[in-house]
Amino acid sequence: MCGIIGIASAKPVFGNIIEALKKLEYRGYDSAGLSTIDNGEINEKKCSGRVNNLEKILFKNPSKGKLGIGHVRWATHGVPNEINAHPHSSEVVSVVHNGIIENSNSIKNELIKKNYLFKSQTDTEVITQLLTNYLKNYDILDSVHKTLERLEGSFALGIIFKNFKDIVVGARRGSPLAVGYGHEENYIGSDSYALKSMTNKISYLEDGEICILTKDKVEFYNSEKNKINKEILTLSNDENKTTKGDFKDFMSKEINEQSVTSKACLKEYIDHLRKDINFYNFPINPNEVNKITFIGCGTAYHSCLIAKYLFEDLTSITVETDIASEFRYRKIKFKKNNLYVFVSQSGETADTFAALDLCKKNNANTCAIVNVVESSIARTANFVLPIHAGPEIGVASTKAFIGQMLVLYLLSLKISKVRNEITDQNYTKSINDLNNLPSLIKEVLAKRDEIQIIAKDFVDSKGTMFLGRGFSYPIALEGALKLKELSYIHAEGYPAGEMKHGPLALIEDGLPVVVLAPKDKYFEKTISNMQEVIARGGKVFLFTDDDSEIISENIRYKFNIPNSNDYIKPFLLTLPLQMLAYYVASFKNCDIDKPRNLAKSVTVE
Ligand code: AGP
Repeated sequence: MCGIIGIASAKPVFGNIIEALKKLEYRGYDSAGLSTIDNGEINEKKCSGRVNNLEKILFKNPSKGKLGIGHVRWATHGVPNEINAHPHSSEVVSVVHNGIIENSNSIKNELIKKNYLFKSQTDTEVITQLLTNYLKNYDILDSVHKTLERLEGSFALGIIFKNFKDIVVGARRGSPLAVGYGHEENYIGSDSYALKSMTNKISYLEDGEICILTKDKVEFYNSEKNKINKEILTLSNDENKTTKGDFKDFMSKEINEQSVTSKACLKEYIDHLRKDINFYNFPINPNEVNKITFIGCGTAYHSCLIAKYLFEDLTSITVETDIASEFRYRKIKFKKNNLYVFVSQSGETADTFAALDLCKKNNANTCAIVNVVESSIARTANFVLPIHAGPEIGVASTKAFIGQMLVLYLLSLKISKVRNEITDQNYTKSINDLNNLPSLIKEVLAKRDEIQIIAKDFVDSKGTMFLGRGFSYPIALEGALKLKELSYIHAEGYPAGEMKHGPLALIEDGLPVVVLAPKDKYFEKTISNMQEVIARGGKVFLFTDDDSEIISENIRYKFNIPNSNDYIKPFLLTLPLQMLAYYVASFKNCDIDKPRNLAKSVTVE
């Protein structure tokens, strides 16, 4: 989604703004722009499409401004063109915005009556004109404050002023904003990743707070306009984790590093000497939990579904799952012994955060499973379990999904152990089996040539289905999601047992169908469903750890995963489906890391 950068410096800033915008590209966007103060005037440059286009414009006509704001826009109000691109400027002020202003129409009508002119279709321009109006009578802090009071919705803002040539203002409500500290420069950015090449000293604005930066200092104000101090965090220097290295794109790098990231995650949680799983300071006694609700969006929601099967299998706790955008508007009956677990790679997903906020307001017990530990969700939940996957840049989530499933599996084992619902022998065996996961992942990823052969059968297909039962059902959903988001081929995941209740009507000659049938308690049933698909002309691609030859008849391709225990199989089945989506998309020349219309961090609802 939209990304913001702002810099106050002793030297020209446009080069650093462009570099930071390139770092924000991963969030997904369709236009870009920046404003600097040049010779006392606001110098605004914008374009539709990629940051490269903006760079070309600026290199022809470089800006000398030592202070500026930049933006990548993911269109919400108005088409993605140059006029709607941010910043939005008046004579005196220039604004970049991430989020949605829900009452923009009424404010716009009011301002039009006062003869303010609007050039764009965006909600953001009302912020520009409101500020312009207040600046006639108030100082900067009061003008910003009065403007924020009028806005409904969510936002992070970056603002510069014609008449205050050394100041950049940042503000937030609902959308994240980081503040960075440099040598003779200070910064605001949508996330610390955008600022990483410039600084690792970061603070985070909380809702309602405003920051005012010059090149030499940063001041913070709370919603009552009182000056406040903020903690400065030093982020780890993991720049090598945020570059593609020798890989063609981030997604192939991220798929490939899953054996390393899963190993890192296991190392954080498993005590090898005591053969135990450690979750320090778990805020609620697992013996007292009688219900857990797992909440997330997209891929993170699929790992919640996996958690349902895990916790139901391993514990006697009642389990529910919910899509965050639904949960947040339902009438939830919050109870003392319920636990709400939020799963999110970015930790900034607006719906997931709003669902967490609802729980917090109702004093519910909350836990966050996140990748980005400095994120809003991590900072808000009672308890955080990081997945330790390292930065995930490709819009399609891969290593984070494996990390989420891994932490959820570890959590289910530990809770089961504490509740005496798993035998010591099974607990120790499960831990031992988990230690083999990184090498099993490596083994499956090495079979990429086979997946390339399979992928060719999907390139020209208009649609496809992914079928599975039990643990393989959420994996089928995830496989379908990966394929559709990357290759734009219509793909649906179904529980294999549901086929006869409708979806079987879609099977026709040559339709590619992915069947996930590991040797588990559902195996025979899934194979029967597969035969029904084959009988109707479906072209079946079977993913299994069964090595018998008999079932291979009439199957277009059989991909074997290594043998493992039933809880490890979902991990191993995920990998070929990630690679399948990747190769189909690359054969179709799709933009792998930045699929159309999508954003990495979905910060609007
Ligand atoms: C996954 O490939 C997606 N791009 C998307 O579904 C993602 O998982 C979802 O938006 C949730 O994001 P989060 O994990 O950062 O909360």
